[in-house]
Amino acid sequence: MKLKKINLLFAFTLVISMTLPAQEKSFTETGAQKKERMAWWTNDRFGMFIHWGIYALPARHEWVKRHERMTNEQYQKYFELFNPDLYNPAGWAKKAKEAGMKYAVITTKHHDGFCLFDSKYTDYKATNTPIGKDLIKEWVEAFRAEGMKVGFYYSLLDWHHPHYIIDRNHPQSASSNEEYEALNKGRDMGIYRQYVKNQLREILTNYGKIDILWLDYSFPSGKHGKGRDDWDSEGLLKIVRELQPGIILNDRLDLLDVNGGWDFTTPEQYKVSKWPERNGVKVPWETCQTFSGSWGYYRDEATWKDIRQLLTLLIETVSKGGNLLLNVGPTARGMFDSRATERLESIGEWMKYNSRAIYNCTEVPEGFTSPENSLMTYNPETNRLYIHLLEYPLQYCTLKGFAGKVKYAQFLHDGSEIKFGEPRHNVTYQEQKADEDLILILPVVKPNVEIPVVELILQESL
Ligand code: GLC
Repeated sequence: MKLKKINLLFAFTLVISMTLPAQEKSFTETGAQKKERMAWWTNDRFGMFIHWGIYALPARHEWVKRHERMTNEQYQKYFELFNPDLYNPAGWAKKAKEAGMKYAVITTKHHDGFCLFDSKYTDYKATNTPIGKDLIKEWVEAFRAEGMKVGFYYSLLDWHHPHYIIDRNHPQSASSNEEYEALNKGRDMGIYRQYVKNQLREILTNYGKIDILWLDYSFPSGKHGKGRDDWDSEGLLKIVRELQPGIILNDRLDLLDVNGGWDFTTPEQYKVSKWPERNGVKVPWETCQTFSGSWGYYRDEATWKDIRQLLTLLIETVSKGGNLLLNVGPTARGMFDSRATERLESIGEWMKYNSRAIYNCTEVPEGFTSPENSLMTYNPETNRLYIHLLEYPLQYCTLKGFAGKVKYAQFLHDGSEIKFGEPRHNVTYQEQKADEDLILILPVVKPNVEIPVVELILQESL
């Protein structure tokens, strides 16, 4: 009787495990293991996104083919002229590093289907343009040589492949179901799915260890969209985890509910109000942002963020436990344009003295409220807390509730001591409480730093 029960249980477990998607069986990782796999990324905090392709020639957004509803024939001239003669990835890597970035992610293929890498499965690639070489190979080598981690972006959308089913985001999108049907006659998404798998295998085997993968993107809701079944996201995931077990994967495969289906979430051009959560648990996150409104090089785009906005973006991201992936869209000649270079240099200038308040930092522990017009970050290992003074206060900076919690305070950029003051005892304006608040006495003149940072060495007991 007992034996029968056990047998039944065994059979039941077997059936269950056979019906589970392959991924859930093969990808088992504890929360602690995941944390460890992602540790370098969470510590590094700051990376460079690079959107580069033949859309750099029209220089009016990487979606230009779709925006202007160009056909393959109309778009072909950019392919035929693509010749980035000034391409020098070592120079790019140097600029990224000097800006304080620790990793970089480049588009191997974007939505237009053009591949910067050499692929056995298409002719639509850099090696067949006038530049005539695998641009990804050089890029990977150059960035690694600067000690940076390397990541690949690969577009799931493809506006060039003849078997990609035309959907609502496609340059040739239709206005009725009948029209879609007619347009898609003879197209076989199964062939495209296989193409993606083949290319994914190529980019994940031909370039050594890849640290990050960005698969972009799913749009399953509504009509004529695409999601996990269209891409065979589970099949792709299996390839990714098999070929690069250490890789860190974004969340755009439409597999949010699948074990190992994503590692971090990606608020795009969007400022989150707090550390993003899923099912009540804080999740790893990275906001990707442009300097201006476009990812690809856009000559006439004028809404460039200034250095203050960019630094605030970086600081604020870290203060909520996230990473920042800041994008550059190199030109058709293969250069970072002057607006991007200028901003990278200014960020680098700030990072040179203040990166200690960024790397390995995160949200502050509970119980610390930031003073007016400031943001705080915290390094749990060194137990140091950083106050980023967005608006420089007039001499006295009251840290509410900090009394007894701080051993020492200094400016981060020059390591100069900041003395503690006594609360003012005047009944009419008794704002500070001696037993609760800590008062910092700052120099009246703002130091020559875009956003000065105060480093607080906390008491050990905290
Ligand atoms: C969107 C856009 C794309 C860009 C990406 C970056 O998915 O389609 O152009 O590459 O965001 O996150």
